[in-house]
Amino acid sequence: MANASQTERHILPDPTAAAGAVAEWLLERALAVEGRAALCLAGGNTPRMVYEMLADKPLRERFPWDRVHWFFGDERVVPATSPRSNYHMVRETLFDRVPIPPANIHAVPTDGGDAEKCARAYETVLKQFYGSDRLAANRALFAATLLGVGDNGHTASLFPGSPVLHERRRWAVGLSDPSVPEPRVTLTIPVLESSGEVAFLVTGAEKHAVVARLAHDDELPAARIHPAGRLRWFLDRAAANNGRR
Ligand code: 6PG
Repeated sequence: MANASQTERHILPDPTAAAGAVAEWLLERALAVEGRAALCLAGGNTPRMVYEMLADKPLRERFPWDRVHWFFGDERVVPATSPRSNYHMVRETLFDRVPIPPANIHAVPTDGGDAEKCARAYETVLKQFYGSDRLAANRALFAATLLGVGDNGHTASLFPGSPVLHERRRWAVGLSDPSVPEPRVTLTIPVLESSGEVAFLVTGAEKHAVVARLAHDDELPAARIHPAGRLRWFLDRAAANNGRR
């Protein structure tokens, strides 16, 4: 489990308040970095409201759109137009609604459908952006990484029991998992941890069981993220209900 002194817990009354707190945090992180700031986004349903709030007033007027670059912690290997695509979701909720230079959007290339090929292509994108093949402990790739948690404790597309949890050399990996309908590309743990800050956003009563488990089970993928910087948990009251976080 992340070093306690660096872990902050934010319990908000409801999903809207939790999404608002995360949107503010993303703005704060973008403003905290001089020059280019890279933000790594979560997929799934929970962060949709965060992205919508970033595109709305007042946040959209304070956000440094020109110098922020956008990356994805994982992607479903489906066409970019598919409703299952994380990129498609962020396109609808954010990218199409704000003045982002197209060159600042770094989606996982999913053409061709070969997850490993897509992962290697994304590794090249990440390393070119970072300017090196090796992550330095004193230079984070991302200003902020936003993650979600699945009912089984997965995060990004890092699934329980997967060998990818132990990957320390690759930056992105292609995989299939029986718990999800399509192949995935996921960033590996060292890359997700190369962040000024990492935050989990978890809401809803249906998630409080896994939130409770995470307090005791360090094997779960979401419990294995130990960023050098601060780790934040944004939970609504329903998700935190039985958790000790
Ligand atoms: C994905 C995500 C995944 C997600 C969790 C929670 O591509 O599905 O990156 O890790 O964060 O599955 O998903 P929900 O927010 O939909 O519950």
